[in-house]
Amino acid sequence: MTSNPTRRAVAVSVLLLAAVISFGGANPTATAASTPPLRDLAASRGLRVGAAINDAATLGIPAYADTLAREYSMGVSENAMKWGLIHPAPNTYDFADADAEVAFAEAHGMTMRGHNLAWWNQNPAWLTGGTFTHDQLVQILDDHINTVVGHYKGRIAEWDVVNEAVALDGSAQPNPWSNGIGNPAYIDQAFRTARAADPAAKLFYNDYAIEQPSQRFDAVYALVTGLVQRGVPIDGVGFQAHLGANTCDSSCVNGMLTNMLALHRLGLQVSITELDVSVVLPPTPASLTEQASMYAGVLKACLLAPNCHSFVTWGFTDAYSWIPSTLPGRGAALPFDESYQTKPAYDALAATLAKPPMAPTCGQFSTPAAAQAALSGNTVDGAPLLDANGDGVACNESAVTTTSTSSSPSTTPPAIATVAVPRFTG
Ligand code: G3I
Repeated sequence: MTSNPTRRAVAVSVLLLAAVISFGGANPTATAASTPPLRDLAASRGLRVGAAINDAATLGIPAYADTLAREYSMGVSENAMKWGLIHPAPNTYDFADADAEVAFAEAHGMTMRGHNLAWWNQNPAWLTGGTFTHDQLVQILDDHINTVVGHYKGRIAEWDVVNEAVALDGSAQPNPWSNGIGNPAYIDQAFRTARAADPAAKLFYNDYAIEQPSQRFDAVYALVTGLVQRGVPIDGVGFQAHLGANTCDSSCVNGMLTNMLALHRLGLQVSITELDVSVVLPPTPASLTEQASMYAGVLKACLLAPNCHSFVTWGFTDAYSWIPSTLPGRGAALPFDESYQTKPAYDALAATLAKPPMAPTCGQFSTPAAAQAALSGNTVDGAPLLDANGDGVACNESAVTTTSTSSSPSTTPPAIATVAVPRFTG
């Protein structure tokens, strides 16, 4: 195990500082789960709502299993498919826990995300401590992806093929593959091999701290632009969204939407892949209200983006979350409390999903600059992009157009000049 909790804690701490976003009010009292459950509400909006499965053993806890199956239509193994657990020795694969999690999902009509196939962290000692030639590493990566993706062929809807290839400062994140195979050669290889191993799976690049326009998002945008330009088979980008409850206005929804739409214009999907919103412990009614607003805001951005179809939280109950052990003093980051009671965050998600989409009425950006100003200023040619509740408008698939005059994608997101379509009532 090569977990680096110090680096992880520093990275997440900075991320939390960078992600001080909140989107408006919610009821801070716990309530009963909604009828219909989140998964049904989400289905009516064309969205899969998912949660990370802590480990196979937690599926034996009735309240855990019941809540997961009732509320969620997608699962992802929080750890069981990572190299360190699924490939513990050079010629040994251990599918037991991951198989149990996939079987649970299938038994309850849930699809699965696969996480992940190449990462700097949670790699086995035989890999990180070994000495391998370039050709040996190419073979090891190919064999792993062929074996793991092949094992689950036809059963995983989305794979996080490469995870966190960009460091917090936007530079390349060293990992066994970048060091030994070369960057971006290892990324290209991982995607090409995964595509061949399961042509039906959607292939994602997954990363943290890319939820708002930033140099870091630009670095990831440049990375995936390169993949697209080289014809590497990438389908989407995962926004991890490990956030901290704090205060900010609805422009944060627009910021996330801006990034999602930039990727849409590249032809890529986006998924919210690891959302959690930590608060300072112990939680207070005020901090849970802020947290609920954050959850609603991220969901709104996903619903507004035409290319966002999966919305996944990193766990669902505060009984099982990576936050308290990694960020001491913070926690209570999920929509259910430790006793599987709903929190205001749950209510906010249900209420947001339950809002009927508005009939399309389009507004037109006159120029890219006007469009960009509109996104940051919350207006579209004078009309609000997001209303006072943070609900609002975005672009539908058919209406999205780019004004780029270049025939090849640039490495910075182009300005937005397109049509806006309301999908929320206020
Ligand atoms: O499996 C061992 C077990 O044998 C041992 O007894 C136990 C003792 O601590 O440790 C177990 O391993 C732990 C593993 O989770 C499984 O529970 C590791 O110590 C622990 O570091 C590891 O933490 C995981 C972390 O990734 C590693 O960086 C968290 O559960 C997991 O939530 C977290 O998930 C990551 C995503 O994969 C990528 N994005 C960020 C996200 C949060 O850090």
